[in-house]
Amino acid sequence: MKKSMLEQIQNRRSCRKFTSQPIGMDFKEQLIKAVLWSPTSKNNRPWEFVFIENKESIEQLSKCKPHGAAFLAGAPLAVVILADPAKSDVWVEDCSIAAILLQMVAEDLGLGSTWIQVRLREHDEKLSASDYVKGIIKASGNLEVASIIAIGYKEREREPYTDDVLLKERVHLEAFQE
Ligand SMILES: Cc1cc2nc3c(=O)[nH]c(=O)nc-3n(C[C@H](O)[C@H](O)[C@H](O)COP(=O)(O)O)c2cc1C
Repeated sequence: MKKSMLEQIQNRRSCRKFTSQPIGMDFKEQLIKAVLWSPTSKNNRPWEFVFIENKESIEQLSKCKPHGAAFLAGAPLAVVILADPAKSDVWVEDCSIAAILLQMVAEDLGLGSTWIQVRLREHDEKLSASDYVKGIIKASGNLEVASIIAIGYKEREREPYTDDVLLKERVHLEAFQE
């Protein structure tokens, strides 16, 4: 039986190990629709998405920052999410919503994914991770990279979340309570 949206949210865990199976055209088209239908403030749609399957490019992208991106080298698909900040003052929110919807549609298709933070991260002491990524994807100067989403078939399933990790004290009824 098809899983409910809530069950899919419970099942989604970051996946950093993928099989070598490429992602078929039908799935890629669904992933593309997921980002392009994502909501944006004032319907500004300030974002751009670069879908990358070229192994060499993915390998280079996996070096965008010293920690937390190396696993990307083993992913069959990398989606770079970037935007022109001049097009929207809330481009970060717009890019983040597209990123999580992309991850949820990947989950729905039986694929695994992980968010790689690029914005505010450094490649090295001279270069931001965003500028490094832009060099690889040949993006123009006015764009800023928010994140890269690594996607592929999961090498193994991870345990879904359980009720005992819910931080219930973070939800307040009617007013904030210490
Ligand atoms: C804004 C954001 C940035 C993240 N950046 C990275 C990253 O750079 N590298 C990485 O391996 N995981 C990254 N993650 C994945 C988190 O580590 C992961 O979502 C968190 O540990 C919870 O695990 P789960 O995704 O399995 O629920 C990021 C997640 C978010 C939401």
